[in-house]
Amino acid sequence: MNTLKNLITNRRSCRSYTDESLSRETLTELINAAVWVPNGSNNQPWRFVVITDRALMKQYSDAAKSDWLARLAETPHMQQYEKAIRDPKYNIFYNAPALVIIYGNTESYWRVYDCSMVAYNLHLLAEESGLGACWIGFAHNVFATRETKAEFGIPENYELVAPVILGHPASSHPATGTPRKPFSINFHTGTE
Ligand SMILES: Cc1cc2nc3c(=O)[nH]c(=O)nc-3n(C[C@H](O)[C@H](O)[C@H](O)COP(=O)(O)O)c2cc1C
Repeated sequence: MNTLKNLITNRRSCRSYTDESLSRETLTELINAAVWVPNGSNNQPWRFVVITDRALMKQYSDAAKSDWLARLAETPHMQQYEKAIRDPKYNIFYNAPALVIIYGNTESYWRVYDCSMVAYNLHLLAEESGLGACWIGFAHNVFATRETKAEFGIPENYELVAPVILGHPASSHPATGTPRKPFSINFHTGTE
């Protein structure tokens, strides 16, 4: 049964897509549903850029990879990915047909939390519709810049929060989600 709990626990990030495109209507519908999140002071501080031009995404992928390689020494969290980034065949957007980039208003204190929840909703809504989604942190360098924001018509007081690719999965993913590591839950129950 497709319960919410099943959707949440079985979802996986999708890194392989068919060539099938996603319509403007489908993408708009996903975004319109994804914004129904709790958000700080009800500021609703999000804006969206949608790219469905694969050639443009490839250009941004190449630019992101070159930038990470040039700055590998100062970006230790990227060093474990050096081999992938050096691979000319590796597209950081996995040739997905659509990319939704979420920007948050810097005048709104909780913007990163708010926009991250919208990004997660996109993942869940995609899963529910038989689509795939993946947050692409590797793209943060290219989409956070003043120049790229200007190209996209994003005001300077908005900052990048989440680039999320979407599309039709090339194959069905395993029946269960990516395994979780053990973690602790500290209960402070007082007198139960
Ligand atoms: C902030 C953030 C950045 C991420 N960046 C990337 C990325 O650049 N490339 C990628 O393939 N996956 C990326 N992911 C997806 C994670 O690798 C994935 O969520 C994690 O491995 C857990 O797997 P699951 O989503 O299947 O549960 C990112 C996820 C988050 C939340």
